[in-house]
Amino acid sequence: MTIPNTFYITTPIYYVNDVPHIGHAYTTVAADVLARYWRWRGREVFFLTGLDEHGQKVQQAAAKAGVDPQTHCDRLAPQFTHLWQRLNISHNAFIRTTDAPHQAVVQRYLQQLYDKQLIYKADYTGWYCTYDERFWTEKDVVGGLCPDCKRPIEQLSEHNYFFRMGQYQERLIEHIRQHEEFIRPASRRNEVLGFLQTQKLGDLSISRPKSRLSWGIELPFDKDYVTYVWFDALVNYISALEYLPQGQPAGLGYWPADVHLVGKDILTTHAVYWTTMLMALEQPLPNTIFAHGWWTVDGEKMSKSRGNVVDPNKMVDQFGADAFRYFLLREVPFGQDGDFSHSALVTTVNAKLANGIGNLLSRTLTMIERSCAGVIPDRGPAVLPELEQRIEELAKQLPGTTETGLNALLFRDVLLTIEELNGLCDEYIDKSAPWKLAKQPEAQPQLHTVLNTSARALRLLALLLYPFMPNAAAQILQQLGLSLDLSQPLATPAGLWDAPLAGCTIQKGASLFPRIESKPQGATPVSETPAPQQPTAAAPTTAPAAPPSPAPATAPAATSAAAQPAQITIDEFMKVQLKAAKVLSAERVPKSEKLLKLQVSLGTEQRQIVAGIGKKYEPEALVGKTIVIVANLKPAKLMGIESQGMVLAAGDSEVRGLATFVEDVDPGTKVK
Ligand code: MSP
Repeated sequence: MTIPNTFYITTPIYYVNDVPHIGHAYTTVAADVLARYWRWRGREVFFLTGLDEHGQKVQQAAAKAGVDPQTHCDRLAPQFTHLWQRLNISHNAFIRTTDAPHQAVVQRYLQQLYDKQLIYKADYTGWYCTYDERFWTEKDVVGGLCPDCKRPIEQLSEHNYFFRMGQYQERLIEHIRQHEEFIRPASRRNEVLGFLQTQKLGDLSISRPKSRLSWGIELPFDKDYVTYVWFDALVNYISALEYLPQGQPAGLGYWPADVHLVGKDILTTHAVYWTTMLMALEQPLPNTIFAHGWWTVDGEKMSKSRGNVVDPNKMVDQFGADAFRYFLLREVPFGQDGDFSHSALVTTVNAKLANGIGNLLSRTLTMIERSCAGVIPDRGPAVLPELEQRIEELAKQLPGTTETGLNALLFRDVLLTIEELNGLCDEYIDKSAPWKLAKQPEAQPQLHTVLNTSARALRLLALLLYPFMPNAAAQILQQLGLSLDLSQPLATPAGLWDAPLAGCTIQKGASLFPRIESKPQGATPVSETPAPQQPTAAAPTTAPAAPPSPAPATAPAATSAAAQPAQITIDEFMKVQLKAAKVLSAERVPKSEKLLKLQVSLGTEQRQIVAGIGKKYEPEALVGKTIVIVANLKPAKLMGIESQGMVLAAGDSEVRGLATFVEDVDPGTKVK
């Protein structure tokens, strides 16, 4: 019996022939986002993942390790469960195909099909690929190589048991035709349909003679054979429901699965083998089988032999689970192939998280702390009515668009819309300049509007980001002074934006996403003492009024209104590399009135610059501005903080204004 309002999601069960990699993490994180989201929306979720422990690959890996297969599986299983813990995966159950209850279900199903004569014994001769554990027909094989893995294959003749898969061909085609949602994305659905409509579907060998492979579930009707690993593995999606949902009410009522998430390489086994097995077993079919794409690494196929396998544990060590999860689902549209690179991950963390939600939180809370004694104020009159209306409209739509997006597994689109609200809020803060309002006693009501709006936007962003970044979301809410249990369903998503927030006492904490420093190219080690040509803390890193004089004998050492600065040649000027730089963040240097520490982006590179502009500017006012920096200045330390360049500003002893641009200019653009 199907129970309404359940949501059953599965990942593939992973082979335990090796430790987990980014591909395993990818599917499991995607499944976790859906599981968390639907729980939060009040559905009875069952999220299943686990391990595929039988078959040739596992037997071979165990032999290589010099242990029996079960010992090998028991050793490797914790690698997966530990990684899921580190990645904050909220699965409800973890199946291992060596679990006795699973084996019993597989045997029961085999017996049922055998009794119904849907499994029969026959001779089979064909081309066999040991690596892929499958037979190929004559026409598939080119040059004695497996068409899939390109390894040499051998001709093999043996008795085997076959499942009458072929007889379901028409029914399968019809089902796929009538259910648009059944195979997704649409391109994959068309591929499967195309293949089914042009080729005859054969029967499926579901046994292996023990003489060739002993590591598997024995056939209940012939003790000389074990079950083909895919027949055994696919059954996990139902067998798990018989013994794993302990304490969860639905049990078998979770079936049919709402979503089977799989990689594109195992779509056929799911869309064709599993579906026809279910037809034969007279079980309802899953609603959706979604095939995602594959990751390459720095443009190359990921493989052990290339030594480029991405270890998710290392990513968690370096970037944290939230940032890695975010990257995986933001980088590539789900369903398409993508390329992983360390630099892409750094860019996303810095540009989208540190400079995005992290910065919005820290700006907002700093201002609430300073101007409102740490208590979120109530709204006052409108400050920038048009922008406030855009924020409100987007904020009100966001829960709906998120749900539509997640229903369609468009993770990236959902994140981009969330980023859009974040961006609007940044613009709002830049334009309303609350640091200026704070200095005008009569503008307090306006200041309150800005801070209240930003804080409410942050609450909404946190709630919608929760499925993607559970830790960060909890931290944002905590820092806003809210205590909400995100793992519990939220009653009224419509009120996410409107619900009052004024009066909460914030608890500003550590920065959510510290920027990842990448060493600027060509940077040289810096000493504590500034290099001679470097400005000192007293006359900090704004541009000197005149370029250094090449010939003291003919030019005055300092400029004055009366004195003429020395002339330089164009070649001399060209030695100075000026670039447009976008301010990602800014903060005051402790114990200094003048110095601000800026993180700026030069497009491909990020720099830290210490500049003496703190009397003129509040740090918050600079974020998002594009300024001009001297990019080839030797790094130096100012009050012990490394400065990797210098900003250009007008003024003499006092800074009057920063050099910036009339038009939008990309960070990193040369300035001449
Ligand atoms: N045991 C079978 C699945 C049985 S499900 C009833 C299996 N296991 S696997 O460990 O080899 O692969 C598991 C998943 O990892 C597959 O969905 C596969 O697509 C995915 N990936 C393997 N390499 C990958 C990438 N480079 N990128 C993304 N996913 C990839 O197949």
